[in-house]
Amino acid sequence: MNDVKKNILERFSLAGRSALVTGGASGIGRAFCHALGEAGAKVAVVDINLTAAEIVAEELKSKSIEAIAISADVSLENEVENMVATVVKAWGEITIGVNNAGIGMWHDATELDMDEWSKVIDLNLSAVFLCARHEARVMRKEGYGKIINTASMSAHIANTPQNQSAYNASKAGVLHLTRTLAAEWAPDGIRVNSISPGYTKTTLVEKLLETPAGQKMLPLWLERIPLGRMASTDDLQGAVCYLAAEASDYMTGSDLLIDGGYCAW
Ligand code: NAI
Repeated sequence: MNDVKKNILERFSLAGRSALVTGGASGIGRAFCHALGEAGAKVAVVDINLTAAEIVAEELKSKSIEAIAISADVSLENEVENMVATVVKAWGEITIGVNNAGIGMWHDATELDMDEWSKVIDLNLSAVFLCARHEARVMRKEGYGKIINTASMSAHIANTPQNQSAYNASKAGVLHLTRTLAAEWAPDGIRVNSISPGYTKTTLVEKLLETPAGQKMLPLWLERIPLGRMASTDDLQGAVCYLAAEASDYMTGSDLLIDGGYCAW
């Protein structure tokens, strides 16, 4: 064991840290905001939907968590720059950057319109790059930072029965971008990791499951999940706190796959 002065719970504490979460107004991002805040961090809830982000910021404040809401379309670099500048203006630094905003897309590859392809790649992959590099410029000055990207189990496997080539390619890109940035920024004290959720109950998948084709999909998904259920957003909260905390300081370039065992067989 290292000669560590803090006990393990202290090394999980995020007290005094400042975090931002993109796509923080809904689903997994909202759960990440609550988790980081409950662990002690100040949280900037970033979303293209400012009204929804403000509601989440108010939820956090009602738990005595320091929070702000920021409007940003994270696929646009000037808005990403403004997002980072707003957090720095509020709290002087960014210790934790959670790049989570993303969209789903379900089309057969032969029918997929290239505009749709670009929309998915621009948000799910390129925006993660934009956010990470602007966060890293700030973190580098402190010599410390934790970047956490939301990938997906779709980065590891091809889903079935639905076809989603653009989504899967975008998420596989996030996985390798995470490793690459981790290697590049390790000398600056910046750790870069990802979380790969399996099927999680949020509006992203609910929209699909409400379609006639989607209604037939759910039993097929459940059959393939060893734990026999979809994830709730609560199931993912421990992972983001671990990756944000000092407890994971020796971890970089890695992925936490939280899929109820889907990828195990
Ligand atoms: P969600 O649809 O509930 O939340 C996505 C949030 O991102 C929304 O608040 C939306 O307003 C925001 N957003 C969309 N476009 C944006 C933009 N251009 N700039 C800033 N914010 C934007 O979806 P969910 O499920 O919470 O997804 C979050 C992440 O988790 C995504 O990256 C998704 O691909 C990933 N994921 C989701 C899974 C699931 O089963 N729900 C499984 C694996 C990964």
